[in-house]
Amino acid sequence: MKKKTVRDIAPEGKRVLVRVDFNVPMVPGSGEISDDSRIRASLPTIKYLLDRRAKVILSSHLGRPDGKIVEEMRLAPVARRLSELLGRPVRTASDSIGPEAEKAVSAMNEGDVLLLENLRFHPEEEKNDAEFARALAGLADLYVNDAFGTAHRAHASTTGVTRYLPAVAGFLMEKELEFLGRALSEPARPFASIVGGAKVGDKMKLLENILKKVDCLLIGGGMCSTFLKALSYEVGKSTVEEDKLEFARGLIDKSKRTGVKLVLPSDLVVADRFDREAAARTVSVADIPKSWYVMDIGPQTVKDFAAELRKCRTVVWNGPMGVFEFNKFRSGTESIARELADLNATTIIGGGSTAQAVEELGLAERMSHVSTGGGASLEFLEGKTLPGVAALNDKD
Ligand code: 3PG
Repeated sequence: MKKKTVRDIAPEGKRVLVRVDFNVPMVPGSGEISDDSRIRASLPTIKYLLDRRAKVILSSHLGRPDGKIVEEMRLAPVARRLSELLGRPVRTASDSIGPEAEKAVSAMNEGDVLLLENLRFHPEEEKNDAEFARALAGLADLYVNDAFGTAHRAHASTTGVTRYLPAVAGFLMEKELEFLGRALSEPARPFASIVGGAKVGDKMKLLENILKKVDCLLIGGGMCSTFLKALSYEVGKSTVEEDKLEFARGLIDKSKRTGVKLVLPSDLVVADRFDREAAARTVSVADIPKSWYVMDIGPQTVKDFAAELRKCRTVVWNGPMGVFEFNKFRSGTESIARELADLNATTIIGGGSTAQAVEELGLAERMSHVSTGGGASLEFLEGKTLPGVAALNDKD
């Protein structure tokens, strides 16, 4: 990796400001964390710094409080969970900058952990305000960015702060960049990407960029309705993005011209209404009933996709294959996840809902890498430079 990492600094006895992404899902109204993957993913960096007797000052956002204090978005529940995972106390500060934060930092001993309050309680954070960044930087001697999930945001805590402190990547950031970066730049081949999710509109740049890299592109999820319509199939009442039909045709043509195998579903699970209890049946793509909805890929499609995946040495998956949140329509996503778990290949799960599905199925440990970034991994796979990464110090 071109960027410096925690291995390139001497954190012994120093105050180290670590930007983490503790933007974790909460069970509404309960103060309970429903998925602590992002907290667990930050442990290697925190432990490394603690082992070297650093004073570890953690900073994060939680939710989108829009520059105001929102009680339910305080980071106290995260501090409690982190403390359980680390097996040591994690103190909290009632603010992320200013006298309260300064007081909490000056009370720290070597080997202590402090979690600052939600950065986004200050509007200056998202505005990348220079004074806010300077105040944050003033709390520490060194800066480590381990918040891959927020690296696509140019905020005070992800980019602004790097103007005032030596700035390096943490282990999670490094791991994310290495897995995703290697897949795009030097994948072991054959290389396939599975792209799903509801809308073509959300994945256009990803599809365009990934088509240039892969040997095989498998398309499922709600978005396949637009692709099927572009090939003149009847898709019933499924949402078709009329303004993306041209794009879909263009992508199909480009795959033919460039020799990339593009595989669309051959059968689908359809439902008589968009509802978890709807009546469902499996049909060929040529037989989608006029008033039904496409909800999932069918068993033949799973077999077709599996046959391609079994040839591959690298697979990147972004987007569920169907309406995974409804039990009845999660079979396609589940089957593909199981297929990937059994592959003898580098398997990379883009973050967001695909990562959530793999976690829920208990298969995360069997993938080579499950990204902690939703928007960030999408932008990375689109080929964009992430500002939070660009701002870190280069190795030479
Ligand atoms: C995420 O969950 O994708 C990151 O924490 C970034 O959050 P944001 O979309 O609110 O900036």
